[in-house]
Amino acid sequence: MKLAPQIHLSNVQAVYAGPEGRLWELLMGEQIHIGGFQSSMDLAHRGTIAAGSEGVDLCCCSGAGMRFLARFINVARMTGVDATPAMVQLGRRRCADEGLAERVSFVEGNACDTGLASGHFHFVWGEDAWCYVEDKAKLIAEAARLVKPQGKIVFTDWMEGPSAMSETEAARFLAFMKFPNILAIGEYKSLLETNGCLVRVAHDTRRFALYMPLYLDMIEKQLTFDALKIIGFDAALAQNLVCEMRFIESLAEAGKIIQGLVVAEKAG
Ligand SMILES: C[S@@+](CC[C@H](N)C(=O)[O-])C[C@H]1O[C@@H](n2cnc3c(N)ncnc32)[C@H](O)[C@@H]1O
Repeated sequence: MKLAPQIHLSNVQAVYAGPEGRLWELLMGEQIHIGGFQSSMDLAHRGTIAAGSEGVDLCCCSGAGMRFLARFINVARMTGVDATPAMVQLGRRRCADEGLAERVSFVEGNACDTGLASGHFHFVWGEDAWCYVEDKAKLIAEAARLVKPQGKIVFTDWMEGPSAMSETEAARFLAFMKFPNILAIGEYKSLLETNGCLVRVAHDTRRFALYMPLYLDMIEKQLTFDALKIIGFDAALAQNLVCEMRFIESLAEAGKIIQGLVVAEKAG
């Protein structure tokens, strides 16, 4: 695990309540994760998420993943947990606008301590978000607590790849992304096993290095004005953002960061 001990939940909340969060949505769309719709469909299929089931999205942001599951997998109900009040409010508005408020609800709070019922849900879902959570051991314990026996914990996340980052690279990457730490796929596997889960799938989706050029193209070739507007037309800041994104692209190309996909099943 690589650590950035200076980063806490308040830093992450500031990102998603402010311009940085809006910038991520500009580049990625409502689904703020690498691969958007295709990645969600892949995760749902590998996780065998069933129509009529009930799940929890930990770190759901504005709930795009839950609306995806309700529309395309026909899950019965979703509950999303997110720590940024502005995101929860936005998510509730979007669900009401789309006629999904009856099936999708939100809890404002920490994903590590949701207050939701134990052993009630068919699955726990997460998409490229758990990298923001400080206490991964608590997060995985909470996910395992929430699912029924034989329930699934399915998620994608930004993880450290098979080639380790140097301490300097990790410090730069974590500080820019506002990640308090980053785990390798094997570290997630160990946490899941410690919490009584069998890991069924754990692999690199291979999307990270493929998608970074797309995001850079968007910012440099199509959405420059919109991106500048979000950051108050601060050209120096824009240049710095592109420079840090190119650095992330280089880490992904070197196999130092990946989008990992994990499907685990709680013992019956
Ligand atoms: C990248 S966004 C999630 C994107 C979303 N999964 C999707 O695919 O659209 C990260 C979200 O995690 C939330 N978050 C970070 N740490 C959290 C925590 N400890 N508990 C709850 N939410 C958290 C942030 O507020 C933010 O909305």
